[in-house]
Amino acid sequence: MRDILIAGNWKMNKTTAEALAFAEEVKGIEAGDNVDLAILAPFTQIGALKDAFEDSDILVGAQNVHQMPSGAYTGEISADMLDELDIHYCIVGHSERREYFKETDADVNAKLKALLAKGITPILCVGEPLNVRGMGGHLTHVGVQVHLDLAGIPITDIKNIVIAYEPIWAIGTGKTATPEEADMMCGFIRGIIEGLYDDVSAERIQILYGGSMKPENAAELLAKENIDGGLIGGASLKADSFIELARIAAESVK
Ligand code: PGA
Repeated sequence: MRDILIAGNWKMNKTTAEALAFAEEVKGIEAGDNVDLAILAPFTQIGALKDAFEDSDILVGAQNVHQMPSGAYTGEISADMLDELDIHYCIVGHSERREYFKETDADVNAKLKALLAKGITPILCVGEPLNVRGMGGHLTHVGVQVHLDLAGIPITDIKNIVIAYEPIWAIGTGKTATPEEADMMCGFIRGIIEGLYDDVSAERIQILYGGSMKPENAAELLAKENIDGGLIGGASLKADSFIELARIAAESVK
């Protein structure tokens, strides 16, 4: 009953020429009912991809936004600027931004609000590092992130947010959470949404898994009750594996 979303997070990869070559290969994919497909691209490629995917089933998104509406923030991009590009999604709070760019939960919360005000769907990333998992603190860690990141976001907006559970130890490492571990964490997050909002919001919200998801393991992960798609890094960079992931998603609609 929830759509499956396959969202490619390209991170800092591909020139615009390379992005357009990819688009040429994938733009004919038919997403099918109840499957959403997206590429979350570096800022410089968004305009070209929007044009290339104009008549296709593939949506375009960004990977970051600044929380302030405008001003002296050299090198940053505002929600207004993204809105002008007519994008659908924007990642918020990816673990790489939290770690390398010192984004706090307060920053993440402000970014969510800036995007929601413009009607852009945030993909909120949460997840625990390896040492926290090793100590058994993953539920607390992710629970605190979800509470802080969603602080003050009203029930009318929660349906416009996607959440991605991305255990940091599984990102780019080749190590995937088992389908059971991933499903348990996505279910745990759904339970928090029910507590903070209501059961309808919990039932509706799309919760993705991210971390070394690829054609070889996607079917098993997507078969799980609480996993509504994937935020996919490495495996989204090659056209053939993105096409394969889209096919697996279409077969996984519950
Ligand atoms: P990965 O990245 O699929 O390369 O592990 C996922 C992500 O960081 O969103």
